[in-house]
Amino acid sequence: MVDTGDLIAAAVAAWGRAYAPYSRFPVGAAVRDETGRVHAGCNVENAAYPIGTCAEAGALAAMTLAGGRRIVEVAVVGVGTSLVTPCGGCRQRLREFGAPEITVHICDETGKLRRIFTLEELLPASFGPENLAMSRTP
Ligand code: THU
Repeated sequence: MVDTGDLIAAAVAAWGRAYAPYSRFPVGAAVRDETGRVHAGCNVENAAYPIGTCAEAGALAAMTLAGGRRIVEVAVVGVGTSLVTPCGGCRQRLREFGAPEITVHICDETGKLRRIFTLEELLPASFGPENLAMSRTP
């Protein structure tokens, strides 16, 4: 089993840098790419509420810029009695770069692991890049 310590630590550090003045709900996320490198992101809110971005989107942007193209595991950090799982849109964002089998580690703000999901559990029967490989015109 792969050690997730660095992945979770990066998500915790990102949680500490979130810009969430409106919701007051910081989120940190980290993804490990196919070369083992870890890329982190935090939510970045905006006075024009709908254009705020999620932590997972930031982590995936950082990975893309660094040249990573696949994710092999994910960590998401947030506070609360409910698990801070990726929102629906971020589940699909993760699916773009990760196979259904990859694991998503849900942690509290101290890095304590609360639960592990596969991406398939979070986004069952998903639509992904493979679908478009089968595209054809009518
Ligand atoms: N948020 C994330 O960053 N990731 C998620 O998957 C869930 C929600 C952020 C968006 C917003 O800034 C705040 O949490 C409250 O919804």
